[in-house]
Amino acid sequence: MVDIKTPLSTSAFRVMLLGSGELGKEVTIELQRFGVETIAVDRYPDAPAMQVAHRSHVIDMLDGDALRSLIEAEQPDLVVPEIEAIHTPTLEAMEAESGLRVVPTARATRLTMDREGIRTLAAVELGVPTSPFAFVDTFEDFSAAIDRIGMPCVVKPVMSSSGKGQSTVRHQDDVAKAWDYAQSGGRAGAGRVIVEGFIDFEYEITLLTVRHVGGTAFCAPIGHLQKDGDYIESWQPQPMRELALARAREMADKVATALGGRGVFGMEFFVKGDEVWFSEVSPRPHDTGLVTLVSQTLSEFALHARAILGLPVGEDAQGNIENLGPSASAALLARGHGVPAFSNVEAALSAPNTALRLFGKPRVEGYRRVGVTLARANSCEDARAVARDAAAAISIEFKDN
Ligand SMILES: Nc1ncnc2c1ncn2[C@@H]1O[C@H](COP(=O)(O)OP(=O)(O)O)[C@@H](O)[C@H]1O
Ligand SMILES: [Mg+2]
Repeated sequence: MVDIKTPLSTSAFRVMLLGSGELGKEVTIELQRFGVETIAVDRYPDAPAMQVAHRSHVIDMLDGDALRSLIEAEQPDLVVPEIEAIHTPTLEAMEAESGLRVVPTARATRLTMDREGIRTLAAVELGVPTSPFAFVDTFEDFSAAIDRIGMPCVVKPVMSSSGKGQSTVRHQDDVAKAWDYAQSGGRAGAGRVIVEGFIDFEYEITLLTVRHVGGTAFCAPIGHLQKDGDYIESWQPQPMRELALARAREMADKVATALGGRGVFGMEFFVKGDEVWFSEVSPRPHDTGLVTLVSQTLSEFALHARAILGLPVGEDAQGNIENLGPSASAALLARGHGVPAFSNVEAALSAPNTALRLFGKPRVEGYRRVGVTLARANSCEDARAVARDAAAAISIEFKDN
């Protein structure tokens, strides 16, 4: 039985978000709708989710002591990690000591915060097909791994996201550069690197997989386009051959079951014909899943909120979450320095069945996703064009404050 009391009362059901970006903001809004008390945490003030939560805290979430003190002070019923850069051993220790509930589980957040944990689980323990790979710590081992795996290959720091430190090695000349870049781009500084064989995929998908109180459900596959490690467009449904989709679902179920707990998992796959390779997973809503804000009655954020609260997610008898029709999202990217200001916003909403989210990020330093345009149309191609044009129509200026 699920019991939710009144926020800000002594018996409130409290959820603490670790990471307060745009995905956390949507999760927070969905939790607010159920009368959950929400506490947003990040390493900088005025982060998007903080603007819609009941209260917020600014701490270094990689500092185990600071994380522990905050959790002890706030006593949340659930801790919901929104990013990977968290001191996950502290979450594991607190889960074991005091029964702290972490979404989906403390172990899953540890395994997915670094590429080695999840790759070893999926490829070695579960036997799920992935690109060939090797983990290396020295330049000597790195060169040997590239000789063994062959070129082209993809090089990434084990702890990194959004393409930081990631590059593709196509020629002998790229080898030293790729090593130096990986050493500079890791979250934890220089260190361990994964070398992956390059998969010449036809398309890549995110399969949103929902572990909920009644079992496992799947959203329609989301196709996406990545550039420099960041997604620029996504659409749903990505057409797939029946066998490829069945394989992706089976692998997603296997990996999600091994990670355990409840919530949305963003399972990333590469696909070519009937062949499917598992790439990586976020044990939380996925940025490419922003499209579900218009493509589904229950977005991935609403599904996450329901799943973690132990509520039904409304799937059909085959475990499908309903898709409302061809839909797309386009990232609104800002390049510059300062506080962003948006103009010509009305142009982004002039076509029927469009939507816009401006995240409210306090500042841009360099290159940052600051919003997303969304569209539904008669085909994914049309929806993509509408979303793309909408994003291009908005102009962004930067102010000092
Ligand atoms: N082995 C690979 N073969 C081909 N493309 C790859 C490979 N690994 C990554 N990519 C491309 O780079 C993108 C980002 O890689 P990913 O491992 O998902 O890193 P991140 O954690 O930064 O999202 C993928 O979505 C895909 O487009
Ligand atoms: Mg990825």
